[in-house]
Amino acid sequence: MRVFIEEVHRYLDQEVLLRGWLMNRRSKGKIHFLILRDGTGFLQATVARGEVPEETFLEADHLPQETALEVVGLVKKDERAPGGYELSVRGLRVLHKPQEEYPIGPKEHGIDFLMDHRHLWLRHRRPWAVLRIRDELERAIHEFFAERGFLRFDAPILTPSAVEGTTDLFEVDLFDGEKAYLSQSGQLYAEAGALAFGKVYTFGPTFRAERSKTRRHLLEFWMVEPEVAFMTHEENMALQEELVRHLVARVLERRAKELEVLERDPKALEPALEGPYPRLTYKEAVALVNRLAEQDPELPPIPYGDDFGAPQEAAISRQFDRPVFIERYPARIKAFYMEPDPEDAELVLNDDLLAPEGYGEIIGGSQRIHDLELLRQRIRAFGLPEEVYDWYLDLRRFGSVPHSGFGLGLERTVAWVCGLSHVREAIPFPRMYTRMRP
Ligand code: 4AD
Ligand code: MG
Repeated sequence: MRVFIEEVHRYLDQEVLLRGWLMNRRSKGKIHFLILRDGTGFLQATVARGEVPEETFLEADHLPQETALEVVGLVKKDERAPGGYELSVRGLRVLHKPQEEYPIGPKEHGIDFLMDHRHLWLRHRRPWAVLRIRDELERAIHEFFAERGFLRFDAPILTPSAVEGTTDLFEVDLFDGEKAYLSQSGQLYAEAGALAFGKVYTFGPTFRAERSKTRRHLLEFWMVEPEVAFMTHEENMALQEELVRHLVARVLERRAKELEVLERDPKALEPALEGPYPRLTYKEAVALVNRLAEQDPELPPIPYGDDFGAPQEAAISRQFDRPVFIERYPARIKAFYMEPDPEDAELVLNDDLLAPEGYGEIIGGSQRIHDLELLRQRIRAFGLPEEVYDWYLDLRRFGSVPHSGFGLGLERTVAWVCGLSHVREAIPFPRMYTRMRP
């Protein structure tokens, strides 16, 4: 019977057939130990002299790394084997034997070398663990919104307009001199969706032409963006917290093995299961940063009115053991579409959610302006071309109601959950200022 490594525990003392690849091997006396992978996990297989035909025993000693194999054997419990089970091989068939040396050996390689060989590095334990956690998070996101009656609403990638400022747009040549931009955010379309379907979310790739080499920026990243009619700023934050708690719970529940491979202590994530997440206003956050800066010469203080940079966000987020909200920023440093704070028209009803341990912003969200005149003024004040936003203004001409939404960056969330030092490992093939290959 053909089985996968993740299910061998159900076949104790039975004969099974596995298809996979050889990762590593060593020999001790009359036994060869083969480490196999099949995508669902890793398993040690033992090839003992006398238990297999002699030619199989001899062949097993010469198989190169990444040989594709089919093996038949008995599933045994073995405390010493990684994973607790091993396969006692009875038969082995080589499906493909590499003729050249595989570039990624057991020795340590630098990150640039590994990234240059990302197409092969994906086969190894660390990317295996990270990308299975990413997959779990994506599924958990879809389930979360499906269970709550949200419609999945796919936004276009080619767009005529900016959402989050005009400085980091990727321009695309259309026909006859016409231009379009790669989407920075599906939000404006999600707003049309919310007023048509009540609750929607978009989930897709987004693009930012950022010439930055930080550990948090990709040129192409995935963002989930829910948008809900009649939802207020307060309810928006509650939804964000519920989502993040759901995501962390799901990974702890189903991806413990992967966290272990990454040496990520689940205890670091557990506080995020409990709410409520602390909340600071922008003003309080500025005061906190400036207090911390007095004790830390490395941390630049921040004048009221400026946006936080990465070091300041990191400093704030290290003060808490769970995600923390920062809300009500000055309107000047935020996007044109944000609803003013009724208590202070200089501020907006927005929030950023910062992941703990210095990870910083994983979510940005806000209530949206629903008044036609005010939105028009803001578009003008931001120097944006009004005619391009005419369709968006229609949403304020017909049945306009308060509505809110947010965007959660998938790679930053994966990086935090997995304890990665850089978002480049959180996506199969990262696109960065410094990397477009493979
Ligand atoms: O804060 P941002 O720019 O918000 C928006 O795009 C809104 N339109 C969302 C909305 O309200 N529907 O981006 C949201 C999130 C950030 O918090 C971050 O997690 C992620 O997207 N993000 C990036 N991730 C990786 N690389 C980049 N260059 C990113 N820029 C933003
Ligand atoms: Mg933001």
